Amino acid sequence: MRGELRVVEDVPAAFCEVVGDAWRRHAGDRFSLALSGGETARRCYERLADWSESPIDWTQVQVLWGDERCVPLDHPESNHRLAREALLDLVGPVGEVHPMRCDDAAGYERRIAALDGVDLVHLGLGPDAHTASLFPDSPALDAPPSRLVVPNEDPRGNNPLPRLTFTTTAIAAARRVVVTVEGESKRDALDRVRAGDDVPAARIDAPGVLWLADPAAAGTS
Ligand code: 6PG
Repeated sequence: MRGELRVVEDVPAAFCEVVGDAWRRHAGDRFSLALSGGETARRCYERLADWSESPIDWTQVQVLWGDERCVPLDHPESNHRLAREALLDLVGPVGEVHPMRCDDAAGYERRIAALDGVDLVHLGLGPDAHTASLFPDSPALDAPPSRLVVPNEDPRGNNPLPRLTFTTTAIAAARRVVVTVEGESKRDALDRVRAGDDVPAARIDAPGVLWLADPAAAGTS
């Protein structure tokens, strides 16, 4: 496991502090933030939207996604829709919002490449130890190091829909990465990452990786 594992009772609260800290540290005119999908992310975004002590000026934030399902942006399975419902429609005007579109992987890749690294990438952990849409035994895991955004699917069929996803190279270029993990159902996956098994989430590697896990996921409850 690359980075630090921090076991916390309240993952969404700890997530807010990490985003606030990354916001304070960012250089340049815009703070770039790549969002995740999933229900842990939804809880984190709802808390972030409601965070009364937030230092974030959302008009200075460039919102991106680390992965997306290949569905319309207003589809119930869309990560864009999740973020809009839980966060972006609740924080007032946002500087830039760049949804991932499965028909324009190259365009998204150029956008990410032009950033020279995303300020903060938020990732989740699946029970099969996937992260973003990097699934076990999936082609995206073997993308050339030059690729930042690629199409992908789950060959085992555990995660529906064709996807677009950051590659491990795009994740590695991030200034900071925060991985949020909640619940007993993630304990085995987190154990495998900690044991150094070659699972997709174990490939998360960047200058600053912080894993936020509750006691149920970390096995300390
Ligand atoms: C996705 C997510 C995915 C998610 C994990 C955890 O598009 O599905 O990006 O990587 O973060 O599957 O999801 P839960 O928090 O719902 O368990």
